[in-house]
Parts: sequence; C-alpha cells; structure tokens
Amino acid sequence: MTTPLSRAKAAAESSREQAYADARASHLGASTNALVRVDDVFAGYVPGVNILNGCDLHCDEGELVGIIGPNGAGKSTLLKSLFGLVNVRQGKVTLRGEDITNKKAHQLVKMGVGFVPQTNNVFPRLTIEENLQMGLYHEPKKFSERFDYVAELFPALRTRRKQRAGSLSGGERQMVAMGRALMPAPSVLLLDEPSAGLSPALQDEVFIRCRQINSTGVSIIMVEQNARRCLQICDRGYVLDQGRNAYTASGKDLMNDPKVIELYLGTLAKA
Ligand SMILES: Nc1ncnc2c1ncn2[C@@H]1O[C@H](COP(=O)(O)OP(=O)(O)OP(=O)(O)O)[C@@H](O)[C@H]1O
Ligand SMILES: [Mg+2]
Repeated sequence: MTTPLSRAKAAAESSREQAYADARASHLGASTNALVRVDDVFAGYVPGVNILNGCDLHCDEGELVGIIGPNGAGKSTLLKSLFGLVNVRQGKVTLRGEDITNKKAHQLVKMGVGFVPQTNNVFPRLTIEENLQMGLYHEPKKFSERFDYVAELFPALRTRRKQRAGSLSGGERQMVAMGRALMPAPSVLLLDEPSAGLSPALQDEVFIRCRQINSTGVSIIMVEQNARRCLQICDRGYVLDQGRNAYTASGKDLMNDPKVIELYLGTLAKA
C-alpha cells in the first residue's frame, strides 16, 4: 500500500539517485589530468559491508578540495582508503596517473602523499621536534631544511620544539600533526577534520594555515565538519552521502545550492 510517507521516501530516494548520477557525470567530465583521482571505489571494514559505495573524487595540481557530509557518510574512510589504511575492494585510486590502489602508507609517503588523521595524530610522549623527525624518518638528512619550512608556517613549533606533544593544547597538537605530515614535502596533503574540537578563533587559524600551505604548492584534500567554512576556503567541494558523492561543484556554488543547503548545511546557512 502506498502512503504519503512511502511516496515521500521514494521521491527522496529517486532524487538522491539523480544526484549521484549527476555527480558521477561531472566527475567523468572533469578529472582527466588530476593529481589524485578516485574512481568508483568500494571499501569497508567488515567483510560484505561496504562503507564507500562507488565513490569518485579528483584533486588537480595545486587545488584545495573540501569534502563535507553527514556523520558516518564515509569521509574518514575515504581518506583512509586513499592512504592505504582501508582495503579498496573495487575501483581505482591513481596519483599522477599511476595506480596506487591499496599501496601501503609508507610507500605513499615516499610518493608524496601526506595524511593527518582525525584523532590520535601526534605521539604524545615525544617532543615536538621528535614528532617532526618521525615524519621524516626515511630522510633524516633533510631535517633542518624541512624544519625551516614547517617552522615558517608554524613558528611556535620552533620556539617550543623541546616540549612534549602530550602537554600541548588541541590547536597546538593540530599544528604538530600538520607539521609532521609536511616534513617529507608531500605533493598532496590529506587532512581529516583539522578544525575539530577547536575554538572558533583557532578554527579560523587552522583554515588560514591550510590556505597558506596550499599557496606553497601543496595540494590539499580536506574533510571538514565545519561545512560552511570549508566551502568558503576550498576551490572545489564534494558532498559525500552514504559513501558516494551526492554533489560536486566549486565551494561557492555548493554553498548557494538550495538542495545542499536544505539537506546538508541547514537553513541557517542561508544567513
Ligand atoms: N574501524 C572501523 N571498523 C568498522 N566500522 C567502522 C570503522 N571505522 C568506521 N566505521 C564505520 O564506517 C562508517 C563511516 O565512518 P567514517 O568514520 O568514515 O564516517 P565520517 O563521514 O568520517 O563520519 P564523522 O563525520 O562522524 O567523522 C560508520 O558507520 C562507522 O561506524
Ligand atoms: Mg570522520
């Protein structure tokens, strides 16, 4: 029996399927020379249960790409799949055209991919300097040159280099984590919710730093819970929903898209 509720559900499902189809068409049309490219990826943790269900993404050289979406949409899983931490069951990930699907994290670091996880992203018992050394364990001779670059972005890391990371505030730890990932001079940095848990002022600081890092030539793929701020600063954005892209466009266009506002940003975002 069809009821108003079941008809509304069917309409929502059909509009979601249309959004997925539009997002895929846009991906296929725009991603030819991408630095990083994710095509139709399926991945998950438990056998038989996919969290990513045909996910697409691309990031061009020099771009800052933002990924937003509801809790549990698979945003962190997508970044982990890109960094070899979750097994990709189907689909393909490439870096400058080279297949990197399911390559291990240590190999990816050497190929120019950096990752800052959402949680537990510093070694609390180690000092700031030791954390940064961990980021460059495979090329210790480059430490001082890379430290200069990182300390230019985050001056506090130089002045407090002997302090244990575990004694730092949330914002300071985030800087150590980003600094560590930047030590090997990555071409692309994967950031999972860099502003989570920070005060509004510190969130702004993190977003400014992300733009600064990007302006030094590092491409960035950033997942963010602060959807509006993320869309404000990114070149292009993706809305991930149930492990697939529902919408993709410039950050500005996504912020002004009535569907994205209604479903993902909330009506307050209009203000
Ligand atoms: N290690 C794990 N083992 C099993 N399931 C997991 C694991 N990590 C995440 N999941 C499941 O995968 C789904 C997507 O999780 P994920 O962390 O990717 O979402 P997210 O979009 O990053 O959410 P949030 O906005 O809350 O960070 C969730 O249902 C989650 O329970
Ligand atoms: Mg997450």
